[in-house]
Amino acid sequence: MENQSEDVPLGQMKIGVTYNLKHVEHTAGNASDEQAEYDSMDTVLAIESAIRRLGYRTVLLEADETLPQKLLQEKPDLVFNIAEGRGGRAREAQVPALLNLFTIPFTGSDETTLCLSLDKALTKRVLATYQIPTPRYRLFSPGEPIRTSGLTFPVIVKPNAEGSSKGIADVCIAKSSAELKSLVEKNFSLYGSAVLAEEFLSGREFTVGLLGNGETLRVFPPMEIVYHRSPIEGYNVYNYTVKQEYQSYVTYQCPAEIPEAMEQELIRLSKKIFFALNCRDFARIDFRADESGKIYFIEINPLPGLAPHYSDYPMLAEFCGVAHEELVGMVLKAGAARAGLCL
Ligand SMILES: Nc1ncnc2c1ncn2[C@@H]1O[C@H](COP(=O)(O)OP(=O)(O)OP(=O)(O)O)[C@@H](O)[C@H]1O
Ligand SMILES: [Mg+2]
Repeated sequence: MENQSEDVPLGQMKIGVTYNLKHVEHTAGNASDEQAEYDSMDTVLAIESAIRRLGYRTVLLEADETLPQKLLQEKPDLVFNIAEGRGGRAREAQVPALLNLFTIPFTGSDETTLCLSLDKALTKRVLATYQIPTPRYRLFSPGEPIRTSGLTFPVIVKPNAEGSSKGIADVCIAKSSAELKSLVEKNFSLYGSAVLAEEFLSGREFTVGLLGNGETLRVFPPMEIVYHRSPIEGYNVYNYTVKQEYQSYVTYQCPAEIPEAMEQELIRLSKKIFFALNCRDFARIDFRADESGKIYFIEINPLPGLAPHYSDYPMLAEFCGVAHEELVGMVLKAGAARAGLCL
C-alpha cells in the first residue's frame, strides 16, 4: 500500500486506531483472564476523541482477522497502535508487523521490541549485558524437569510471557522448593507456557514512564506504589486483585518521595533500558528495590495500558499535569515526527 501522508492537509490526514477489545469482563478472582490485556471501548474512544480534537480524521480498526482488508480499504496515513494481538508469544508484534508490511507508519515500538519485551526472561538476559540489575531467576518450560536449586527463597512465580498481572494470582509466592514446584505446575496447567521464578525483592516499588525519542526523550518522575495492605499475607505484590481494587490496597505517590540519588538512579536506568531495547515514543518500566534500597529492573511495558483513570502510564502523566487527551497527542506527535510526518 502506498503511504499517502505526503502533502495531505491536516484536516484530511486520516489516523487509524488499532486495538483489541475486551469482549468479556475479567473480574478479580476469575480464573479466566484470557482477555485481561485487551482494552475496553471506553479507552479506544478516549484515544479517538483526543486525536479528533487535534483536527484529524480517524478510523477505528479492531485488530481481528479482517485487519488486512480494513487497512487496504481505509488507507490510514498513520496508525495509533494499542493492539495487544491475538495470541502466542509474539502477539504484540502482529499488528506492527502487518503495518510495516503495508508501509503504514505507526506509533510505539516496532515488532522486534514488542516481541522481546513480552518475554521477561529474554529481556532480563539482554539487559544483563547492559549491566542493568535484575532479580536472579529460573525459567521453567513445560515438559522439562522442575529444578528448584540455586534460588534464594522466597521467590515470585509468574508466566514468562504474559502481561496485566495474568498468572500473578493471590498465590504466587513460594517459600520452599516444594511450594515452587507446585506453583510452577499450576502455571503450566493454566497457561501451558514457560514460567519464571524470580527472587522476591521486598523493598519499595516504582514505575517510570517515558515519552518521546532520542534527544527529546522525556522521563516522568518515578511513581511509587505505596502499599497499605496486600492480598498476600506478608508480601506486597501489585497483582490483578490490587490493580482492580487499588483504592483499598495502595496509593500512588508521584513524584515518589525518595532521596535524590535514588531518583537519579531510576531515571538513569530507565533511559538506558529504553535505548537498549530500541523503544519508541512511549514506555513504562517497573522497578523494585531490595532491602538495602538497591534498584532492580522488573519488567518493561513498551505498549503500556492507556485506560483513563486506571492505567499507570496515564496516571503518572496526570500527576505531572499531562491529562489523558494531551498525552495521546504527545504520543501521536512523537510517532509522527519519528516517521517524518509533519503533524
Ligand atoms: N522479583 C520480584 N520481587 C518483588 N515483587 C515482584 C517481583 N516480580 C514481580 N513482582 C511484583 O509483581 C507485580 C507484577 O509483576 P510484573 O510487573 O512482572 O507483571 P505483569 O503482569 O507484567 O505486570 P503489568 O500489569 O505491569 O504488565 C510487580 O508490580 C511487583 O509488585
Ligand atoms: Mg508490571
